[in-house]
Amino acid sequence: PTPPPTPPPLPKAELHLHIEGTLEPELAFALAERNGIELPYATQDELRAAYSFTDLQDFLDLYYALMAVLRTEDDFADLTNAYLARARAQGVRHAEIFFDPQAHTARGVAIGTVIDGLTRALDAAEQTYGITTRLIMCFLRDESAESALETFESARPYLDRLAAVGLDSAEVGNPPSKFREVYARAREAGLKCVAHAGEEGPPAYVWEALDILGVDRVDHGVRSLEDEALVARLVADQVPLTVCPLSNVRLRVVDRLEDHPLRAMLDAGLLVTVNSDDPAYFGGYAGDNFDAVRHALRLDDATLRVLARNSFRASFLDEAVRAAYL
Ligand code: ADE
Ligand code: ZN
Repeated sequence: PTPPPTPPPLPKAELHLHIEGTLEPELAFALAERNGIELPYATQDELRAAYSFTDLQDFLDLYYALMAVLRTEDDFADLTNAYLARARAQGVRHAEIFFDPQAHTARGVAIGTVIDGLTRALDAAEQTYGITTRLIMCFLRDESAESALETFESARPYLDRLAAVGLDSAEVGNPPSKFREVYARAREAGLKCVAHAGEEGPPAYVWEALDILGVDRVDHGVRSLEDEALVARLVADQVPLTVCPLSNVRLRVVDRLEDHPLRAMLDAGLLVTVNSDDPAYFGGYAGDNFDAVRHALRLDDATLRVLARNSFRASFLDEAVRAAYL
């Protein structure tokens, strides 16, 4: 007898995805060639062999270095289209995508080049891939508060293309409170607010993201479990946490996927979603992350459906569109 066909992947929303973290070795080498840039790796395999990280900073060093191949509007559009094709194959119907403008402007790439390239691909995404999208502009928290403010002001002509601002890069020593002013400006301009907090940093940073930045979602937030009062707050307000299981293993936030607190977070009543973070570096896209936790944590189909449903509940989709997924 023929085996039953594999079911199509669950429809889901991806809410924690750095577009620069979708740069696969194959595209990195192609763009290096196109732009006449010499990479410090002879082959794709040699580059891939460097994807063994001791912590967040160790990953960030490689992540920022490889971005050197991204120079033109076409580069950003090609990167985005490559991501959308992979995402669609894994059941993604809606993607809220981070980008790091300061990582590009610091290399002399204009913010308009970045945003024009990304939005050229995103504007066609619904038609081409059946994926609706939102764009989230992140500030690098290991850069100064002034640099974040300058970045926000330089993005003013493009604010209608942005759904939200976010905060990423090296967390410890760079608390959310450092960015109070730029978040106030973003909210004033009508943008939603999210921030990475509680990945490597303490629960106090999650409190600051909530109370000082006024975030609508917390990215990662896994260390919130260390603070009972914080969990109570996140549950009471149903603040979404965009958890990234494979990332947490690769960056040694958790030792093994079998030890990941995802189930404990769900059991605590937290609004948890499963996401891929930097899939080209961490071993998988959204569907791969769902598959990995299904196996490692022995999640049943009902729990997987809760996770998929949470991803739409936690999204910035318009209410009517969101309701159609629930
Ligand atoms: N930038 C890209 N991926 C990140 C992560 N997991 N944490 C903080 N900053 C990031
Ligand atoms: Zn992230």
